[in-house]
Amino acid sequence: MIWWAALLLFQPPQVLDLPDRNPFTSTADIAHGKSLYQGRCAGCHGPEGNGGKGANLAVPSLTRAAEDKSLYRIIRYGIPDTEMPGSLMDSRELWQTAAFVRTLGQLPSSPVTGNAQSGEQLLRLKAGCLQCHALGNEGGRMGPPLSGIGARRSAGHLRNKILQPAADVPDTFRSLAVTTRDGRVIRGIRLNEDSWSIQLRDFNDRFHSFWKDEIVQLTSEKRTTMPSARGRLTDQEINDVVAFLATQRGAQ
Ligand code: HEC
Ligand code: HEC
Repeated sequence: MIWWAALLLFQPPQVLDLPDRNPFTSTADIAHGKSLYQGRCAGCHGPEGNGGKGANLAVPSLTRAAEDKSLYRIIRYGIPDTEMPGSLMDSRELWQTAAFVRTLGQLPSSPVTGNAQSGEQLLRLKAGCLQCHALGNEGGRMGPPLSGIGARRSAGHLRNKILQPAADVPDTFRSLAVTTRDGRVIRGIRLNEDSWSIQLRDFNDRFHSFWKDEIVQLTSEKRTTMPSARGRLTDQEINDVVAFLATQRGAQ
């Protein structure tokens, strides 16, 4: 009997029946959704949905939340392996927040002024971004892939990242320094770790695997290897690169 009750409790969330359309979209719902949004979401997505380090929500159609149900689920459960957190609001508040998020897409958003085409050229050649970042099947692996970045980050955040990479390094990105018994120090990015061993990729793209008992010191540093483009690109060129990245909204 007990195990049977436990089974019910652990029903996966998809099983819950959600209505196809948001049932809470009155003016009062939207007003309440707005205050919930300002308190819980604006810190990352900006008060108007187009700023900060969160995805740009001020667009007519959200990439992963085109339907009301998917928007609800994203707000409820977050997006795994990203900085988008889940939320413990009750179902009515979740719908009200979703209703307000929909209104953001109807506001006129600040235009991206650069030229995306020359931005792509710059990114590939002069700016050297593909040394470390993948775009489609090309490029390096030290930084996160840039495919789909326009759906994950607002234009304002992209500009800040390019100008001041060290100002906002996500907690999920940490470089490691491993000191071995025989005195070697290897720095890189953690790929994998279990109780006995750790694997990392160094900044020259070489793979290393260590047994834990070979390691005398392991330090984790929230430090980026991304260089600032300030001084290497003109303001106009930076606008162009941002414009190109903002158009990268497709599948990853
Ligand atoms: C800690 C920062 C943070 C907070 C707080 C946050 N978000 Fe997000 N959100 C993000 C990030 C980052 C992404 C992009 C994730 C990715 O795909 O990499 C995102 C993605 C989204 C998306 C998907 C957009 C798309 O184009 O598919 C929606 C919708 C969203 N957030 C809504 C909300 C709402 C509503 C709240 C408040 C209840 C909220 N977020 C709170 C950081 C945040
Ligand atoms: C020497 C390697 C290197 C180069 C060159 C480089 N980056 Fe990065 N970049 C990284 C690393 C590593 C990270 C992840 C850590 C962090 O956020 O700083 C990163 C993070 C980013 C992010 C944040 C991604 C996210 O999901 O929020 C963006 C955007 C970005 N880089 C764009 C660029 C652009 C545009 C260029 C070229 C102008 C560039 N990078 C050049 C290494 C590099």
